[in-house]
Order: sequence, then structure tokens, then C-alpha cells
Amino acid sequence: MPQQVRGVIARSKQAPVELTDIVVPDPGPGEVVVAIAACGVCHTDLTYREGGINDEFPFLLGHEAAGTVESVGEGVDSVRPGDFVVLNWRAVCGQCRACKRGRPQYCFDTFNANQKMTLTDGTELTPALGIGAFADKTLVHAGQCTKVDPAADPAVAGLLGCGVMAGLGAAVNTGAVGRGDSVAVIGCGGVGDAAIVGARLAGASTIIAVDRDARKLGWAVELGATHTVDATEADAVEAIQGLTGGFGADVVIDAVGRPETWKQAFYARDLAGTVVLVGVPTPDMRLEMPLLDFFSRGGALKSSWYGDCLPERDFPMLVDLYLQGRLPLERFVTERIALEDVEKAFHTMHAGEVLRSVVIL
Ligand SMILES: NC(=O)c1ccc[n+]([C@@H]2O[C@H](COP(=O)([O-])OP(=O)(O)OC[C@H]3O[C@@H](n4cnc5c(N)ncnc54)[C@H](O)[C@@H]3O)[C@@H](O)[C@H]2O)c1
Ligand SMILES: [Zn+2]
Ligand SMILES: [Zn+2]
Repeated sequence: MPQQVRGVIARSKQAPVELTDIVVPDPGPGEVVVAIAACGVCHTDLTYREGGINDEFPFLLGHEAAGTVESVGEGVDSVRPGDFVVLNWRAVCGQCRACKRGRPQYCFDTFNANQKMTLTDGTELTPALGIGAFADKTLVHAGQCTKVDPAADPAVAGLLGCGVMAGLGAAVNTGAVGRGDSVAVIGCGGVGDAAIVGARLAGASTIIAVDRDARKLGWAVELGATHTVDATEADAVEAIQGLTGGFGADVVIDAVGRPETWKQAFYARDLAGTVVLVGVPTPDMRLEMPLLDFFSRGGALKSSWYGDCLPERDFPMLVDLYLQGRLPLERFVTERIALEDVEKAFHTMHAGEVLRSVVIL
């Protein structure tokens, strides 16, 4: 029987989000219904609400979630009712040209549920990133469910489903930060701070946090930054060079995603160093630079989707490190809120007052 539960939807551009009743179908072949325990509020939810992703309103928001499998459809054997799972938005297909080349982190044909969740009048909902987890329950593809140790706090584990994985993976997977490396991170929100945590985990010895907000720099230090640069007071490039013997950092991560921060990342790295772009630019942004600088400085210029993660490989491992006390993921949960408070959380996020607000269900 299809179930009626509560969900947070965005009906149109700029209108505040609404808590309303939604209908979740029984899982079909390859599908799973998950009872959501916790879901973080990510910048991308706000971008959906503002129409910055596409126009397929109404959206069912929320995509950084953990919960318990309630029921599974035909042919699902990877998870069972009762399993504790983190949801992911890149369930790889195993069949596309990227997967076949052994690079599933670039999969071009990721899976989502086939059936649609709806409003009670039958209007189809578009779930954010194919998840839609600001809801008591949601319908996803089985490949979007990754089992992790149920001892983990769902509010913490769920964050691996987006921002924390994106930042941590930008350092560890995309940037391939190694022991003794120097790393600079521009923009220390949830994603940038996760990159700092990743750099520390990988053994970087110099970790420079750059932000315009002193409070963010304070949190960055608590999470492992060895130096800070207040971008309102100092030139980020000169400051990073000054902290790395005049050379620049081995890996610079742009967790803002603007032409000016990307240029800073480019010039603040050592010769043959690596730039990782994990912040998401908007379609109007342009870059103009001497081509010779790209050539003569060498190195690697990379972008990072979802931290180049493989959920089945990375989520359980990171949850285990967190449970062992080796990964301070609980520090990303600044506040716990109710489903009614998502709109308010967008304002808190905008004001820079949180790393993450997490909805508890
Ligand atoms: N690539 C991916 O897969 C992926 C996944 C999730 C999020 N993201 C993106 O990562 C970016 C960061 O997300 P977030 O949740 O951390 O956002 P956030 O708003 O919490 O953090 C951004 C930080 O950048 C700082 N900042 C802004 N302009 C700056 C500047 N010029 N110099 C220095 N610091 C500056 C802000 O003060 C803030 O602390 C966003 O663009 C988001 O869309 C990417
Ligand atoms: Zn694929
Ligand atoms: Zn997100």
C-alpha cells in the first residue's frame, strides 16, 4: 500500500519551503523505501529551491541522510529491512563507458528510483539529487543505500551522503594528499572543513585554512588546520606562499567555486602542484588567464564530483574511523532541528552560523 507521510517541498522559485503530506509508493523492482532518521541541510537544497538546478518543481528536498530500510522491491538483495544505511546520489551503473574503463567514480548513468513520489493530489515530485529525504520516508534505488555500522549517530553518518564526503574526498581521493604534504583549503564551510579533516587523515603536515569569516577559521583550526588566513585582511596567494617556504602548497582545494578563488588556488600552489575545484560555479562564471601560466607551472588541475567517492568503499570505512574516534565528524553537526525548521535553517546557513543543521526525524 502506498503510504502518506510528511515531506518538505519547494513548490516554486523563491517561495519558502512547505511541510506537507506526500505519497510514497511501495518499492518496485530494484527499489527500496527507507525510514529517514536524520538529514543534513546542504547548500544544494537551497539552490534547488531557488531554481538554480532546474525547473522541475515541485522538489522534495533533502539529500544528506541516514535511515533504516523499511521494505525492498523485487530483486533487491544488497539490503534488507532493518539495515542501517546512508543514502548516496551516485549509485553507479557498472555498464557505462566510465564504469567499463574501471573508473566507476565517473559513472555517467547513475541509478535512481523509477517510480515517482507524489503530492496527495497526484502531482509528481522531483526528489533532490534523486533522494528527497526531508521526509519521514523516501523511495530510492537499492544502489543508493549503503550499509554502515548502526552504532553510528544517524545525524553524523548522514552527512557522509553529500558535503562531508565531497570535501573529504576532494582531499583524499581527487587531490591524493599524502603524508607530509602541504595543503591549503579556500572556503571553510562544511565542504572545506571536511577537506581539512581529509588532509589531516591523509597525513598532511601543513594545512592552511582560508576564509573571510573569523568564526569559520576558528572551527577550521578545531578540525585540524595548522594555519589560518583571513582573506579580508591578507592576500590569500601571498599568505599561502609565505607559510610554505615561499613556494606554495602541494595541493590547493577551492571549496568556494568562484573565478577569483580558483585563480588564487592556481597561483597559491607549488610548481607541479595540484588544484582541486570542489565548490560549484554558476553558469555565468568565466575565467581569463595567460595560457602560458598553465603550461609553465605544470601540475594537475582537477575537479571533484562527490569527492570521487565510491559509497560502498568509502562510507563504511569513514563511519568506522569516526566510531574509532579518528575522524571528528560529530563536529560538523552544529544544530539538530525539526522537519518544520528547514526554511529557518536556510537562513542560518546563509548567515554563516553553522557547518550543518541536521533535521532529526
Ligand atoms: N563537488 C561536489 O560534489 C559538491 C558537493 C557538495 C557541495 N559542493 C559545493 O561546495 C561549495 C561549498 O559548500 P559548503 O556547504 O561548504 O558552503 P558554505 O556556504 O557553508 O561555505 C562556503 C565558505 O566559503 C567562504 N567564502 C566565500 N567566499 C570566499 C572567498 N572569496 N574567499 C575565502 N572564503 C570565502 C564562506 O565564508 C564560507 O565559510 C558549494 O559551492 C557547494 O555547492 C560541491
Ligand atoms: Zn556507469
Ligand atoms: Zn549536498
